[in-house]
Amino acid sequence: MISAAGCSRPVSAVPLKAENMLHAIDGDVVENAFARDVVRGLSAAVKTLPSRWLYNERGSELFEEITRQDEYYLTRAETSILRERQRDIADFVESGTILVEYGAGAGVKTELLLASLRAPRGYVPIDVADTFLAETSRRIASRFPSLWVRPVEHNFLDLFEIPFGGSGDGRTGFFPGSTMGNLNSSEAKTLLMQMRRHLGGNGRAIIGVDLLKNVDTLLRAYDDSAGVTAAFNLNILERINAELGGDFCLEKFKHVARWNEIEKAVEMHLVSLCDQRVTFYGWTFDFRTSESIHTESSRKYTAESFERLARSGGWKVAELWQDADGLFGMFGLIRC
Ligand code: AVJ
Repeated sequence: MISAAGCSRPVSAVPLKAENMLHAIDGDVVENAFARDVVRGLSAAVKTLPSRWLYNERGSELFEEITRQDEYYLTRAETSILRERQRDIADFVESGTILVEYGAGAGVKTELLLASLRAPRGYVPIDVADTFLAETSRRIASRFPSLWVRPVEHNFLDLFEIPFGGSGDGRTGFFPGSTMGNLNSSEAKTLLMQMRRHLGGNGRAIIGVDLLKNVDTLLRAYDDSAGVTAAFNLNILERINAELGGDFCLEKFKHVARWNEIEKAVEMHLVSLCDQRVTFYGWTFDFRTSESIHTESSRKYTAESFERLARSGGWKVAELWQDADGLFGMFGLIRC
């Protein structure tokens, strides 16, 4: 048993699962996607970890808990739009549509939307997490028995086709949760163009986007007083320890939410509280005091800046529905 200096956490040799083994090929190439991203991200001059790795089982639980915090208004505001604007949203979508959801989560918003639509024909959830996907599909299929449900297991940022039944008409894309905000402009554009291709000639899309507002409100949403967002962010280090045999000492890092005025984004960082060295599976990473790991960006849009983004991907804004406080926007898009 070894112990990192000054850290209460005993560091034991974590038995590595075969799929987490790091294979150094030609010096630096690493297989396992998580290990590769961690090595790459922590070796860079400005350290980063891709936000997708925040969502293991614990991370997904913590995110659900974030959505129940007072400061995190996003989920409540979006749900209130889906409830209060049911009629308008149903009018925007033609009857008998096939709903295609990009990154299907727990599915509460999906049920709300499906219940508002007129005689929806099908539901196609797309997600990388196969268990979540199967669960959501089963629940929706049993609640809407006449609906054709066809889950697609894919990362929605990759290029892929959807095996649709029937004609190419009447498809509606759904991308809630302000997940669009986590994509940089080139990823967002790629996804919008992919949606355009999937959804066909008279395709429509409904996209939930957090709106630009005063920076205090934004920062508080990403640094709640109960510390749930901090735990969510720090969990990525715990995951490196558990899955890659890292020796991160969580007490030596602090969660920080920062506003990036140029990107118009709230950034989550993990800031080192001292000079320290972290190792895992033969790699060594040095941190200076105050040096940070950037773990997530959540971009915020105005009606105008989102319209520009939509146009870059071949869409135009036909509708914008907002909650009573104007915090959140659901954009109704049609093809340019
Ligand atoms: C679910 C990814 C949209 O960016 O607001 C919440 C994730 N991160 N608190 C967001 C998140 C910190 C959330 N998304």
